[in-house]
Amino acid sequence: MNKRTLLKSMTALSAGALLAGAMLPAAAQDTVKIGLILPMTGPFASTGRQIDGAARLYMQQNGATVAGKKIELILKDDAGAPDTTKRLAQELIVNDKVTFLAGFGLTPLALATAPLATEGKVPMIVMAAGTSIITDRSPFIVRTGFTLPQTTYPIADWAAKNNIKKAVTLVSDFAPGVDAETVFKSRFTAAGGQVLAELRVPLRNPDFAPFLQRVRDASPDAVFVFVPSGVGSIFMKQFAERGLDKAGIKIIGPGDVTDDDILNDMGDVALGVVTSHHYSAAHPSAMNKAYVEAFRKMNNIRPNFMSVGGYDGMALIYKALAATKGDTNGEKLVAAMKGLSWESPRGPLTIDAQFREPVQNMYIRKVEKVGNELHNVEFETLTAVKDPTKVAK
Ligand code: PHB
Repeated sequence: MNKRTLLKSMTALSAGALLAGAMLPAAAQDTVKIGLILPMTGPFASTGRQIDGAARLYMQQNGATVAGKKIELILKDDAGAPDTTKRLAQELIVNDKVTFLAGFGLTPLALATAPLATEGKVPMIVMAAGTSIITDRSPFIVRTGFTLPQTTYPIADWAAKNNIKKAVTLVSDFAPGVDAETVFKSRFTAAGGQVLAELRVPLRNPDFAPFLQRVRDASPDAVFVFVPSGVGSIFMKQFAERGLDKAGIKIIGPGDVTDDDILNDMGDVALGVVTSHHYSAAHPSAMNKAYVEAFRKMNNIRPNFMSVGGYDGMALIYKALAATKGDTNGEKLVAAMKGLSWESPRGPLTIDAQFREPVQNMYIRKVEKVGNELHNVEFETLTAVKDPTKVAK
């Protein structure tokens, strides 16, 4: 190479470097964006409020920098409409160049977005939605909440062992409700129980009254209920109004129906309701006591099970970025997430390496008065529970 060509290539090189610098200003290179899409308005706004509050609490407690990168949370409200979730996710990927998508308050919202995570190779953290198939829809989906089969089967087994012989199932008519109904029926009948009727109530503007009349007519020992977070108080009110509590019909289910966000206002009808779930605000660990106190201080509400999906979703993002040393490649980040374990306010939590699902304790709990408040008081623990429909190969 003669002097002139050397000089030329050096100029080209520095021009190239300058250009690259202009295209990627230092601030952009050093910032990792998380697109958090949640229902902040509409009938499922409590889920949005819980998860957003928990994500912000995590950042307040752990700082806004990981592996030298500044973390920026971009909150978008999808109002619970799948088309909106999908459009917002597209904009976050293309315009904002987010490294992570997170949130997903309902199953249809997660399913609508899954193809975009795959196309864009963007890790998608499902913090709320609980239908089992969600994580099968993209290798970039990792879940930090729960699955309905996981939260349902322990109460089916418990009911069969505790003198409940006949049950009616009553679920919200969408995918997680169908998951809950299917798993309850198969476990409960395998253990000798009988399902007298399977009722599905519309998800939007539910009127439980006609369904509760059918429950009453069947006179089961218990009604197995799944309604999404935020809807439990309407169910409880109508249950009491129709006198089903006086008729001696017990309520059982996964813990969505005695959601901690609204439990305290349900009144005496909720007392004694037994559910299985991964989180109770009354979980007696030191970490959870500190969590509940800090969450209440910051957000003025009691944290519920949705909140821990958000809190641990942020923990997962922070831990994955630390493991890749700030590398934002989507495949590397998902690889780093697989098999991670840590202590959550709910108890020990592991991300299953094969299915990208949470492995966690399930607690059997009963609603009791603690001081002046209603709480889900845990009295039995099943450790390291997986989604029973996902069997390792
Ligand atoms: C869901 O849409 O998957 C979902 C929503 C609320 C719940 C549980 C599951 O409480």
